[in-house]
Amino acid sequence: MTMAKIILLLLVLAPLRMAAASTDCPGVPSLDGPFACGESCGTKLLQDLCIHVMVWGGVDVSGAHKEGATGYAVLAARFAVESMDATRLAAGKQLRQNASLSGQERDAYEGCLNDYAAARSSIDRVANEMLPHCRFAGVADEFARGVKSLESCWIRLMRPPVKSTMLYNLVWSDRYKLLLIHLLDGKLLGI
Ligand SMILES: *[C@@H]1O[C@H](CO)[C@@H](O)[C@H](O)[C@H]1NC(C)=O
Repeated sequence: MTMAKIILLLLVLAPLRMAAASTDCPGVPSLDGPFACGESCGTKLLQDLCIHVMVWGGVDVSGAHKEGATGYAVLAARFAVESMDATRLAAGKQLRQNASLSGQERDAYEGCLNDYAAARSSIDRVANEMLPHCRFAGVADEFARGVKSLESCWIRLMRPPVKSTMLYNLVWSDRYKLLLIHLLDGKLLGI
């Protein structure tokens, strides 16, 4: 599987249709979706992911429509939450249904379920603090906690012999989704 395919693996997620947030936070720039992605993402891969997230959120990506920047950052966070939920479901299903998982795999997957619950709750909080509340002060710390939780799962999967299991690709791709939040937060909102 190519890198791009892995990253876009979960783009079959049901569309959100929430973006078009007509109100954004005070003092936040308005810009069109493709411009926001171009400004924030240094690589084609991340730009593609960014555009996919916009489409998923129902953003008009023709370049003709401007949104507040917070809306884009929140969209990336909601997308990451959906994606992490899908990964958790996949891990849970393996634990329940796959009798060939080794003891080490089982331990890693179970650990990841806990890590993911924590990561999900942090990223969900990040989204909710930004919109509708426009409380940006704690966002960086909360986001960092989310990243740390996801990395904790990642480390479990890096250890042989667990590496290269099905969950590995999913977590790898979720890390990119968190990276996208970080890029949008940093470039558009200065968080
Ligand atoms: C079950 O787990 C084994 C060991 O990780 C893996 O090789 C196999 O692909 C899994 N089966 C399914 C149906 O996911």
